[in-house]
Amino acid sequence: MAEAAMGGNLEHALGTGEGSDVSTISAAAPAEVGLRFEVDGEIATVTLDRPDKRNAQTFATWSALARIGETLPEQVRVVVVRGEGPSFSAGIDLRMFTPEGVPGQESFASAAVLGDSEFEQLIAEAQKGFLWLRRPEIVSIAAVQGHAIGAGFQLALACDLRVVTDDVKFCMKEPALGLVPDLTGTKPLADIVGVPRAIEMCLTARTVGAAEAVRLGLAEIAVPTSELAQAVQDLAAALLATDRAAATATKRLLQAAPGRTLEEQAAAERIEQVARIRALFGRN
Ligand code: CAA
Repeated sequence: MAEAAMGGNLEHALGTGEGSDVSTISAAAPAEVGLRFEVDGEIATVTLDRPDKRNAQTFATWSALARIGETLPEQVRVVVVRGEGPSFSAGIDLRMFTPEGVPGQESFASAAVLGDSEFEQLIAEAQKGFLWLRRPEIVSIAAVQGHAIGAGFQLALACDLRVVTDDVKFCMKEPALGLVPDLTGTKPLADIVGVPRAIEMCLTARTVGAAEAVRLGLAEIAVPTSELAQAVQDLAAALLATDRAAATATKRLLQAAPGRTLEEQAAAERIEQVARIRALFGRN
């Protein structure tokens, strides 16, 4: 990769550089962060890289994701989120529910004694790792193979688009474990499949395979495992073929559309188009 950021930028993204305020990250061993970050021109790739543990995620993973979002190079237009090994992600690292927790990180057993606002702040920090993937300036693509469970499903849902393999297994397992999905996944899920289907899917914690995922709009396309990387690359290339400013403005319009009336949306289209046409004719 042309501008591989395996060392410097990852260190930066992990908050181990000077001025870092992400204490959970600096305390965590890199193995528990389990992320790689690479930039190649206009495409950035975030790789969950703990395949031996099925890319289980910890607070350190989420803090590192947030730092990547904060420090994303300006030239990046497409962000690919992928997982190494047979599974995209088996969700939260189950050690976080044990009294010992993950070395150097908060466990839920210790977090449970925090006050409400402190505890909610901890979750808000984790959510930051997911929210930036919706920015209008970028298009995020989750490349999902095998299991995407709990936090893994939510990370895929945090992306704008999902390209999956034929063996994909989405599962919102949280309710089965006595939890709610809290890593920003409930809104995109309900928006995509509708509230009744989302209730059925989450409250049974059942598995959704490739054919159903495509049918419900949870995935744009399903391909054989051997074709995943190429399918993502093709999609990224097609996305990069459009004008950046127009793509950003169009994404902004589409994201806001469900919350607006037709008249409000028409007004928003006018505002964006005036800006576009002025820019095209050098009049802004
Ligand atoms: N946390 C920690 N370790 C995990 C893990 C997890 N979530 N998932 C898998 N691993 C580890 C296993 O312990 C095993 O480690 P060892 O080799 O040291 O024994 C290794 O990864 C491989 O796991 P399997 O042998 O089980 O692999 P598999 O391919 O046969 O099965 C799997 C894969 C179906 C994903 C299975 O590992 C599994 O069911 N994992 C647990 C999934 C889960 O319940 N996740 C929590 C979801 S809820 C959530 O995420 C909450 C939230 O957001 C708030």
